[in-house]
Amino acid sequence: MSNSQWASRLGFILAAAGSAVGLGAIWKFPYVAGQNGGGAFLLLTFALIFSLGLCLLLVEMAIGRAAQRGALRAFAALGPRGWSLLGWWGVVGGFVLFSFYSVVGGWTLAYVLKAFDGSIVTTDGERLGAIFGAFTADPVHSVAALAAFVGLTLAVVLGGVQKGIEAASKVLMPLLFLLMLVLIVRGLTLPGAAQGLRSFLAPDFGALHAAVVIDALGLALFSLSTGIGAMLVYGSYVGPEIDLPRSAAWVVALTTLASVLGGLMVLPPVFALGMSPAQGPGLSYMVMPAVFAFLPAGQVFAVLFFVLLAVAALTSSISMLELVAASLGDRFGWRRGPVSIAVAVLVLLAGTPAALSFGIWNGWRIGGRTLFEAMDYLVSNIMLPLGGAGIALFACWVAWPQVRRALGAAEGAADGAGLRAVRIVAGIVAPAIILALWVANLRG
Ligand code: PFF
Repeated sequence: MSNSQWASRLGFILAAAGSAVGLGAIWKFPYVAGQNGGGAFLLLTFALIFSLGLCLLLVEMAIGRAAQRGALRAFAALGPRGWSLLGWWGVVGGFVLFSFYSVVGGWTLAYVLKAFDGSIVTTDGERLGAIFGAFTADPVHSVAALAAFVGLTLAVVLGGVQKGIEAASKVLMPLLFLLMLVLIVRGLTLPGAAQGLRSFLAPDFGALHAAVVIDALGLALFSLSTGIGAMLVYGSYVGPEIDLPRSAAWVVALTTLASVLGGLMVLPPVFALGMSPAQGPGLSYMVMPAVFAFLPAGQVFAVLFFVLLAVAALTSSISMLELVAASLGDRFGWRRGPVSIAVAVLVLLAGTPAALSFGIWNGWRIGGRTLFEAMDYLVSNIMLPLGGAGIALFACWVAWPQVRRALGAAEGAADGAGLRAVRIVAGIVAPAIILALWVANLRG
């Protein structure tokens, strides 16, 4: 699809924002914030989104636009061949990401069905925990749900309706935000919710040691879909008429909005129902149904919510399949259909043990983490930050002339203040911070 360009500026923003706004805001953000204890962690995460995150996103998009190639050929097109390794890093990261992300995507689809039959619309928190536990521990159901989500992603890409789905998100994303607002109001007015939230949000900056900061950085990059080349691939479809800094600013704004809404929606009812914010990956799926049950016509809200969440998840998983399949196709000259099918089959194989790690393979641990948690940690906390640092170094010190042009700078003119700031943050500050964090973390 290397010759396919977005027809309009809006098309690109919709695709990029569709990639960014997904399960990250609603599934991941609340429980990771819960595990790392509130206010200080949240402030740090948002600060990282607006500073390093924005700059890394920008230079990643710019490399794609400058190279007009997938992740595997983009680096060698703009610099020495050895940098292609970064492309492989991204493709492997995208593959692992797609595999565990689809497990959660599968939960979302399954919850659409559970919303339809009404079984999850109850205010009984314990019962909701048991429903989630029983579903994710059931090997047949959880793998079937995974397969359904991977299959749906593949069908969208093969069916050529990708742009249609992205265009639909112009309506569906605001609708999701609106629905979240209603749910926030209901959640915050539950007895005990507001007070629980207030004490949770009180910042404790003493708690910010290296591992926590890495979690915040990982969450920031995950939310923005930047660090492994997904935005590079999307950037490679961008024609000269599109203003990348403006598009990146939109992505950052929408991602931040979604994450704030996600946190405000999920955490207050957690306190109201006496659940633990550190519950783990199932948190949102255990608590949100209770909020629906507290609303009139709760079942309608439940169906709508999980359908919209599934669409948001899909516009993100499309970018993962795109990253892997388009980059491989572009590098090896493989046709788009067969390579997408092959990637989907392999993702299903790799995702299956991750799905089973909530049940029969739960005892199988890597450094104390289940396989699902280990895959998430590998991608979010290792591959995205280190990949992001590599991409930023490449953009600022190897391919800067092409990157600055892709960012809209005129040839021959000196870099303006904005460009200089991007180059300092992406080229020096971000890699230095990421390196320092990892050194501090490894030394314990
Ligand atoms: N940003 C997506 C979300 O928040 O759900 C996840 C994601 C997509 C991360 C693509 C990384 C990526 F390359």
